[in-house]
Amino acid sequence: MSTPEKTRMAIIGCGRIARKHAEAITALPEAELTALCDIAPVRLQEFAAQYPIQARAYADYHELVHQPDIDLVTIATPSGLHAEIGIAAAQAGKHVLVEKPMAMTLESADRLIAACRQAGVQLGVIHQNRFNKSVQLLRQALEQGRFGRLTHGQATVRWNRDDAYYEQAPWRGTKLQDGGVLMNQSIHNIDLLQWMFGPVTSVFGYTAQHLRKIEMEDVGIAVLRFANGALGVIEAAATIYPRNIEETLNVFGENGSVIIGGIAVNRIATWEFPDAETEQQQIFASQANDPPDVYGFGHRLLFLDMIQAIRENRSPAIPGEEGRKALEIILAIYACQESGQPVLMNT
Ligand SMILES: NC(=O)c1ccc[n+]([C@@H]2O[C@H](COP(=O)([O-])OP(=O)(O)OC[C@H]3O[C@@H](n4cnc5c(N)ncnc54)[C@H](O)[C@@H]3O)[C@@H](O)[C@H]2O)c1
Repeated sequence: MSTPEKTRMAIIGCGRIARKHAEAITALPEAELTALCDIAPVRLQEFAAQYPIQARAYADYHELVHQPDIDLVTIATPSGLHAEIGIAAAQAGKHVLVEKPMAMTLESADRLIAACRQAGVQLGVIHQNRFNKSVQLLRQALEQGRFGRLTHGQATVRWNRDDAYYEQAPWRGTKLQDGGVLMNQSIHNIDLLQWMFGPVTSVFGYTAQHLRKIEMEDVGIAVLRFANGALGVIEAAATIYPRNIEETLNVFGENGSVIIGGIAVNRIATWEFPDAETEQQQIFASQANDPPDVYGFGHRLLFLDMIQAIRENRSPAIPGEEGRKALEIILAIYACQESGQPVLMNT
């Protein structure tokens, strides 16, 4: 594959989150938006009109992926289509950056990973909160061993998604195309929890569909045991009255306590380590405000990492194998709800 000065990118699926993709691509001097695809012509026209771009528009992704002037596609369609679109793009020789969840089943996630490997293209999964400054600081503290032995952690998403949100599109809240609040909204925070604590050995959880008229859950609660012995709690709700209250990650250990909250894990609320007073003041003084929406600030940094990964012929920060981990935890919670039994994971 040639390496032009700008990585030539295409967006497949021009809905709500695709705006973040277009903003990231147009903000990056390393990237250029060459093509767009959506099955809804009105979406395409409205979308293209919003950005200073000359991108060609396609109704059929099969046609788009065969265009020679595209290096990398981003996939922002309903989740149930991610794997098949990603596989088609990989087989056409395009690098793939896919929205979360990367697929709706482990089998389709694995097919996507295998297709990218076989084609020799990079596969990245969009978990942009890993690039939050707060989360990067936490990860650094963890890698430096500052927590000592990890004891437990919690990923909490207390958001509001009302009936109007689910009525926007027929795929929302369905088993095959979206999942419920665990799979759609909470997957980012579950990804962060497992990124901090490592492999999970067992999962038990319940899900419930309380208030929204959807097929899948609007509340989900789970407990996890990690291979390092630490315990984890997941609380996910789309039912919080009257608005989004928080997306919070807690990490506790022998010598450290960190809580990152705000509406989208941007604000460090607690930063406790031995002799961390000066550091604490610096962190509190310099941290980001809550983002304007729960999508946060991370897409641009994640897209830049993906572009650099392609140029340097290395894995992106969140390759397919990483994106698969949160998916596996959520599918295990769904299996618990079906069987009433804990799920033991292969680590
Ligand atoms: N990273 C994040 O924080 C984040 C946030 C929101 C959504 N997402 C994910 O992004 C994806 C899209 O979510 P959304 O809220 O933008 O949905 P949306 O319904 O607003 O947009 C999806 C778009 O895909 C188009 N589409 C459907 N089938 C298609 C096909 N076969 N080919 C091309 N286009 C097709 C639809 O017409 C629509 O315009 C989902 O997987 C969701 O989980 C990620």
